[in-house]
Amino acid sequence: MSMQTVAVRTSGVVKTFGEGESAVQALRGVDFDAHCGEMLMVVGPSGCGKTTFLSVVCGTMRADEGSVEVFGTDLIHLSAGKLTAFRGKNVGFIFQQFNLIPTWNIVENASVPLLLNGASKRDAEAEATRLLTEVGLGKRLRAFPRELSGGQQQRVAIARALVHQPRLLICDEPTASLDAASGRKVMELLKASACRPDRCVIVVTHDSRIFPFADRIVEMGDGVVKGVHNAGEYHVSF
Ligand SMILES: Nc1ncnc2c1ncn2[C@@H]1O[C@H](COP(=O)(O)OP(=O)(O)OP(=O)(O)O)[C@@H](O)[C@H]1O
Ligand SMILES: [Mg+2]
Repeated sequence: MSMQTVAVRTSGVVKTFGEGESAVQALRGVDFDAHCGEMLMVVGPSGCGKTTFLSVVCGTMRADEGSVEVFGTDLIHLSAGKLTAFRGKNVGFIFQQFNLIPTWNIVENASVPLLLNGASKRDAEAEATRLLTEVGLGKRLRAFPRELSGGQQQRVAIARALVHQPRLLICDEPTASLDAASGRKVMELLKASACRPDRCVIVVTHDSRIFPFADRIVEMGDGVVKGVHNAGEYHVSF
């Protein structure tokens, strides 16, 4: 067995929304491992707990039970302030809603994580410009989000997620509104940023076109991990 450094490890993660009759047990004991240097995809039917699981791993949501460890840090026992700081430094997100600031142009939008980490505006915008150019938006740097297509806005969100070089990148359906060529470009970018020995990318997706980019595929169902597959042997079953 090869020695692999653990990036994310959860065990027995339980999360319930609501109480009594109307309670929904979104996570029922999730045991999960992601290694450094790996791109891991998470698949499973709608409502099975994928987004809830990502929220627990990135610390925007607290688990009710179980343990969550990211790069050796136990998130469960961090104070709210320390958790926010840890996330700001180590985690990048691409969510289904892009959450761009409408009154800021895309360079300003993509600079945000660096500004939050104390970079100067000049340095942050230089790095944001570099990434926006890499995702094909170099000619639209002064544009505002509303002037861009859904797929272009998604690429701004991707540039923003990568700008502070997070060790853990969490993506919820990153190619959902992209055509095949743009989707492939985005995955190549994510893969290039992931395939470093100290980093990890976790991607929730329904998009079977991008499965070949995965190192492993984790299949979720009904609030638990049903199986872990090597990408080559995975066939869509939901
Ligand atoms: N804030 C909430 N309050 C109540 N129930 C919630 C909340 N968030 C999620 N749920 C419920 O938890 C379950 C898991 O939701 P989740 O969003 O994690 O699913 P998902 O696998 O991401 O689905 P999709 O593929 O449709 O995005 C669902 O039954 C959902 O209705
Ligand atoms: Mg979801």
